[in-house]
Amino acid sequence: MVDIDEIEKNYLDSISAVLSLEELEKVRVRGLGKKGEITTLMKSIGSMSEDERRIKAPKLNYLKSKVIEELDKKKTLITEENINKRIMSEWLDVSRPSRPSKVGKIHPISQVTEEVVTIFSALGFSVAEGPQIESDWYNFDALNIPPEHPARQEFDTFYVNSNTNSGSPPNVLRTHTSPVQIRHMEKKEGVPCRIIVPGKVFRSDYDQTHTPMFNQLEGLAIDKDLTMSHLKWTLEEFCRTFFEVDGVELRFRSSHFPFTEPSAEVDIRCSWEDGTLKLGQGNSWLEILGSGMVHPKVLTACNVDPNSYQGFAFGMGMDRLAMLKYGIPDLRGFFDGDVRWVDHFGFDPLNRLSIHSGFR
Ligand code: PHE
Repeated sequence: MVDIDEIEKNYLDSISAVLSLEELEKVRVRGLGKKGEITTLMKSIGSMSEDERRIKAPKLNYLKSKVIEELDKKKTLITEENINKRIMSEWLDVSRPSRPSKVGKIHPISQVTEEVVTIFSALGFSVAEGPQIESDWYNFDALNIPPEHPARQEFDTFYVNSNTNSGSPPNVLRTHTSPVQIRHMEKKEGVPCRIIVPGKVFRSDYDQTHTPMFNQLEGLAIDKDLTMSHLKWTLEEFCRTFFEVDGVELRFRSSHFPFTEPSAEVDIRCSWEDGTLKLGQGNSWLEILGSGMVHPKVLTACNVDPNSYQGFAFGMGMDRLAMLKYGIPDLRGFFDGDVRWVDHFGFDPLNRLSIHSGFR
């Protein structure tokens, strides 16, 4: 004769003793599984005599629902406990300061390149590139600098050894990024265009502000109706954004480049107080770039009709921009490859200043 109360107590004890969902499932199967003890008892109701059924059926039904209820309660309890345990063991303090990064620093040139590209992208310019070893034609002739032109001497050109029997002039390490103007304009879809060209250039020169390799940024905009006022606005907008000085003031000084007419060198207003440079105020002027309206001969060299198209070009030293903006006194450190220098002047890769991250 089975003692239903005994069975109930047995299950309730088992349920309260289990510690995991797996153990709980075992208890459920033992009682309520297909061949479980309680299931079997429930099945036996059908073969009971009427009297027996009247007494036992309610008790068995109660037993079954009681066990189901207790299993459910325990299941909820264990699940909650598990979640709480995880919350306690896996919590993350998002307010803790981040650990200093051990991944090195971003070189000021990389930083400034990104800033410059971002600013000019917003003005509708895209990035173009060209080779660092150039032919004489792209570096000089096409830019209206014929062989006898005195500007060739000013460039302190590095020549690349070549087969002197070929009759053609030797290649050069490009002395400026301007040859990329030519390479771009002579393409089928070359004009109209708005491009910038960040890149390495080479000149045989070495002192505090000159190194044999440095970085330039070229700009070129060609269209049907571009004027010098577009050039002025573009450069002012760029300087205001790049140097983060609202009152930035530029001075356009008449100058000469073979590939632009008229040409202007551009100075930025600044002051030197106690040896520190302040941009946008004071009585000094600092030259930052060369610019002008693209010479008709340059357009012609690219098969662009100077009667239909005109535009402006500018070239500036990227290293110079970095020195000015971030107060780096000596250009030579940029290229010495000294990790301590990059550590000092470089930028945290995990906390970079850029237009997207909030600097405007
Ligand atoms: N290529 C010139 C230089 O290297 C700069 C420049 C570019 C000037 C475009 C005017 C127009 O000095």
